[in-house]
Amino acid sequence: MYFRFPLRIGGSSPQAQPLRTTPKQKNRKISDERQQIKPEQVLEELNGLIGLSEVKNLVSEISAYVQIQRRRERVSLRTEQLVLHMIFKGNPGTGKTTIARIMGKLFCSMGVLSRGHLIEVERADLVGEYIGHTAHKTREQVKKAMGGILFIDEAYSLARGGEKDFGKESIDVLVKAMEDHKDNLVLILAGYKREMEWFLRSNPGLYSRFPVHITFPDYSVDELLQIGTLMLKQRQYRMLSEARTALCKILEEKKREGNYNEGNARLVRNLIERAIRRQAVRLVKRRRLTREELMIIRPEDFE
Ligand SMILES: Nc1ncnc2c1ncn2[C@@H]1O[C@H](COP(=O)(O)OP(=O)(O)OP(=O)(O)O)[C@@H](O)[C@H]1O
Ligand SMILES: [Mg+2]
Repeated sequence: MYFRFPLRIGGSSPQAQPLRTTPKQKNRKISDERQQIKPEQVLEELNGLIGLSEVKNLVSEISAYVQIQRRRERVSLRTEQLVLHMIFKGNPGTGKTTIARIMGKLFCSMGVLSRGHLIEVERADLVGEYIGHTAHKTREQVKKAMGGILFIDEAYSLARGGEKDFGKESIDVLVKAMEDHKDNLVLILAGYKREMEWFLRSNPGLYSRFPVHITFPDYSVDELLQIGTLMLKQRQYRMLSEARTALCKILEEKKREGNYNEGNARLVRNLIERAIRRQAVRLVKRRRLTREELMIIRPEDFE
């Protein structure tokens, strides 16, 4: 993981100007609400996530950097133009979408983005079936993401078909948009590590346009247990310690089988949600239930 700033030195960057608001009333309303959130609040949300220590450090670093750039502007010091397009590499369920959403809120709280929302798309949302269709489709998504983050999952699928594929047309539109709107749009390309590296290698022009690269590691079993506990708490459920042991066994089993990296936090979420349904089946015929019984997940709910 690294963080480069080959950012262009320029007198006053677009960020020096007052925050842009979109003409539409609705958008202004969203941005007003978002702006009341303070960067510290967003960082608190970030720190509430389990593990991800390197990712957290990097996000804090970006946050501090952006805030100091803005303060330098205020006293007319030279600032670097912020280019915050990013590459996220990691297996499914490692928190990429979650972090992207937090980044959006963070940049909005600092006034870098006017809305801070996240538009998550994949190849099918960007690429059309006939000539000209792709450019139109991609531009539509860029428009929706303006003021926020355009997050492209499995971005390498845009290059899959080679030169003749319409995916290439989409990449061209994206490259232009990230230049034209760099002051109010952040583009994040995400996907498996190896595929993303292949994609960037085969499109050398792209590589230099993304100053921030973040690698999302797989979670350890212990981290997944903590994530599961947190997910249950958020839903007002609680595991008995025997249930925690049962969940731990399932996770270790999955890890041995080798299909654990395919799920990560998503795997835990599915297991938790299934346990909640099983608890419901276990309890539904009972006439009297205490508050405690309604909250408890037992080991058999996992088995
Ligand atoms: N570190 C974490 N702490 C707590 N919850 C987490 C953490 N990481 C992920 N989650 C939760 O796990 C689920 C999956 O995470 P997320 O959607 O961000 O993963 P992803 O990397 O985008 O996966 P995919 O590639 O499959 O889209 C979400 O419900 C998210 O809230
Ligand atoms: Mg995702």
